[in-house]
Amino acid sequence: MSNRQPRIVERADMAELTGTTRDVVVADDGHHQVEHTFDNEYWDQIWQGDRAQSMGTGRPNPHLVQEVGDLVPGTALDAGCGAGAEAIWLATRGWQVTGADIAPAALDRAAERAADAEVAERVRWVRTDLSTWEPGTRYDLVTTHYAHPAMPQLEFYDRIASWVAPAGTLLIVGHLHHDATADGHGHGHGHDPDGPPASASATAAAITARLDPAQWEVVTAQESHRAMTGHDGHATTIHDVLVRATRRLPADR
Ligand SMILES: C[S@@+](CC[C@H](N)C(=O)[O-])C[C@H]1O[C@@H](n2cnc3c(N)ncnc32)[C@H](O)[C@@H]1O
Repeated sequence: MSNRQPRIVERADMAELTGTTRDVVVADDGHHQVEHTFDNEYWDQIWQGDRAQSMGTGRPNPHLVQEVGDLVPGTALDAGCGAGAEAIWLATRGWQVTGADIAPAALDRAAERAADAEVAERVRWVRTDLSTWEPGTRYDLVTTHYAHPAMPQLEFYDRIASWVAPAGTLLIVGHLHHDATADGHGHGHGHDPDGPPASASATAAAITARLDPAQWEVVTAQESHRAMTGHDGHATTIHDVLVRATRRLPADR
């Protein structure tokens, strides 16, 4: 029997969007088991931890910038807004934004940044658990960037999709689980140490399959990869899924 002890690697490097994993347990047989209890306590801890300073660069997500530039500004919800880069960018483009997140520390940073950017009056910050929240309104744009609450990922996307107004846009930017064995950069066992756990990600096909064609027109559905520098300066590749869809007007159906 091996005398190697299971090793727990804290790896909460969400900022550079390398994926967020609470603990990676390397069992003595060498297999990785990923725990991902992405609950309130977890996210609070992340946003108050040492790494919070390096999290959220302040630059908006490039997919958002690319996809939303042609939309007429209206009301927007950023679901799981973190430190607010995307919500603030939308506000500077004329949107009236609600930024919702479970972590008070993230929202404090977001509010400071909004004030610095002189868009505070255009953004409302809501501290809430999106797995149970009911906004009580519908938005012209509902977007999310890498939010993965403690609920099944596709059910989370179902929830936020239901908050899109008729003719409004749903924009999902999510983690794409990447099997590192495919490109030889991983540590084996089908797990990418820089990637999110499979349960926190979804493919473009899985997301669009849940969008009823009678109600939605899918505008963009793609999976992409981009190089980035991680929080500790190491080069990494971000694997993204991007889905943009427009809710049809009742008359279109
Ligand atoms: C990976 S971070 C991404 C933050 C930001 N959207 C970005 O791209 O930098 C995921 C965010 O989702 C938030 N979050 C996770 N679970 C949530 C929940 N149940 N309700 C609201 N926000 C949640 C976290 O607090 C965190 O700020």
